[in-house]
Amino acid sequence: MTFLFQSDARRGAVFAEAFASALPDLAFTRDAAKVDPDAVRYLLTWTTPADLARYRNLELLFSIGAGVDQLDLAAIPASVKVVRMVEDGIQRMMQEYVLMAVLALHRNLPAYLASQRRGEWSPRPQRQASERRIGFLGLGNLASAAIDRLKPLSFPLSGWSRSPRTIDGVSCHHGEAGLNAMLATTDILVCLLPLTPQTRGILKADLFRRLPPGAGLVHVGRGPQLDQAALLACLDSGHLSGAVIDVTDPEPLPKDHAFWTHPQIILTPHIASVTQPETAARAVIDNINRHLAGKDPIGLVERSRFY
Ligand code: OXD
Repeated sequence: MTFLFQSDARRGAVFAEAFASALPDLAFTRDAAKVDPDAVRYLLTWTTPADLARYRNLELLFSIGAGVDQLDLAAIPASVKVVRMVEDGIQRMMQEYVLMAVLALHRNLPAYLASQRRGEWSPRPQRQASERRIGFLGLGNLASAAIDRLKPLSFPLSGWSRSPRTIDGVSCHHGEAGLNAMLATTDILVCLLPLTPQTRGILKADLFRRLPPGAGLVHVGRGPQLDQAALLACLDSGHLSGAVIDVTDPEPLPKDHAFWTHPQIILTPHIASVTQPETAARAVIDNINRHLAGKDPIGLVERSRFY
């Protein structure tokens, strides 16, 4: 039985060491050219390999990232379980980023950075955290982790998900009516949705209009969820006050794109959260052990909902 690792060499070395001590009977390789394709039971990758059909006995396909929208699910045989990366390192980094971005918008950082560039000393009125309502689009493991970090700061918290969820201390909404209710009471909207046919383009003019005037956006979902022209129009009209954007479409943005220089946008290059090899190797090993024990892996993708 073989585990084929198809990602970068640095993370591969950490995985190889962890596998050698935790799963000594499982062959671990990064070399697809030399592997016996029939021996490959487990594959870790970012995109669907063009030669996937070689691995006739494949059982689990692990995404190296938290998202699976980059995989061509239709090209993966139904017998293969596809697994999202659910690991502590990704969660920790997302917690940090969302905390940083929410605080940046809460404390008017885009406006102060613009004042600094103009050489202006101009204090603004400041709301208290208990008066700044934070709403999450998506309530998966990364959103729940980020919510845990925000809780002690007294922000009123709400969230919206496809199916009903209950999270202590969070007003949870679902469905179209729930989305309306949450947007109407959200001052900073955090998008942590997976990219699916339903969420593509969800951050559009009609959604932004349902937010209270002066609201802000933190976008850490996927680039194609955002209508960039609609965001720019809402920022320029003053309906939205600022945005922290980590994901774009395309990535990177063209050199002349308005996001690079817009005074109300803080732009980062898709770094909010990155798979950490030590914790990821542990999560994948645990999932293989679960699979060998006849249990579903943590992060199993439900193909009908695309995540
Ligand atoms: C991921 C990402 O999916 O980096 O992990 O966006």
